[in-house]
Amino acid sequence: FGPSQRVPLLRQVRLGAATHQKRLFDAAEPAYAQTFLTHFDSLTPEYEMKIAQLQPAQGQFDFAIADQIVAFAEANGKQVRGHTLIWGNSLPAWLTGRTWTREELIQVLETHIATVVGRYRGRIPEWDVVNEAFLDDGSWRPNLWLTTIGTEYIALAFQAAHRADPSAKLFYNDYNVERINAKSTAVYNLARSLQEQGVPIHGIGMQSHVTPNYYPTQAQLEAVLSRLEQAGLEGQLTELDVSLAKLTDTPDAEKFELQAQIYQGLVAACQARPGCTRITTWGITDKYTYLGSTGVPLLFDTQYAPKRAMEVTRHILGR
Ligand code: G3I
Repeated sequence: FGPSQRVPLLRQVRLGAATHQKRLFDAAEPAYAQTFLTHFDSLTPEYEMKIAQLQPAQGQFDFAIADQIVAFAEANGKQVRGHTLIWGNSLPAWLTGRTWTREELIQVLETHIATVVGRYRGRIPEWDVVNEAFLDDGSWRPNLWLTTIGTEYIALAFQAAHRADPSAKLFYNDYNVERINAKSTAVYNLARSLQEQGVPIHGIGMQSHVTPNYYPTQAQLEAVLSRLEQAGLEGQLTELDVSLAKLTDTPDAEKFELQAQIYQGLVAACQARPGCTRITTWGITDKYTYLGSTGVPLLFDTQYAPKRAMEVTRHILGR
């Protein structure tokens, strides 16, 4: 088949990007929104749906920006991935500046989730309910929720999210879990435990912040996806970027070809596994990435031109 005669794929892996609302609505730089609208199916608000932004004071919610983002997506036929309800980072001062009893913090957790997920009931199809609860050795990552509530905070969060929107798919999200290791096995065991308790969980988000020094091969990622499938769980690449920050001495053409090969393995693994439903890159353009100017980790360059990684991704996904 020549390029114009792409074989229709049996299933479409959706392609998403994390977006930054100031740029998405910046009339002075229409290329940002235009590139998103042309090439991506979904957006993940990079920070605008985190608790510090949505509930800046206890019981005082500010949905103005999140509403704008959801309305923009809906007006353009795009989906929104909600990110993230419960995390140990990006917590507002009212949460971190005092001590809580277990009952008080459970109340805070359940009220936050009920209010946020309930507001977008039926409009946000997927949520990262809990983010980064493990350390790399598979032990629990200490955070406010764990130390005050105990490990049950995770089940409570998933149950609260399901009560607020039974139609939403609920994900656990973490990094360094893109191959079989102590951390990805701890995540898998958590998911199985939640299933055995009857707690609703639908998938695992593998952030996939990778580099030439750490990235899974296609086979390694397929092994993780396959293990999830056997448990009836979706897998998604939720924050994919391939940072080249350490390759400052490598000529551009060479380093972007290496980057494209790394993207190729991850994207092909997702396309190959029926349980892999979406790939989200953590940004649109190398011009704006949390990794800074040397990372150049994304699918479009600083001038919004598609890179080799995008050509490879489009070919594999049949876009
Ligand atoms: O833009 C606002 C500014 O208006 C406000 O005055 C200021 C006051 O706090 O905050 C600014 O927002 C910053 C935001 O990025 C936008 O630039 C926040 O301070 C800053 O904390 C936030 O950082 C985000 C970080 O998560 C923490 O939430 C990054 O953009 C975002 O890329 C990063 O993403 C995380 C994922 O959520 C989880 N996985 C790792 C990933 C990378 O760290």
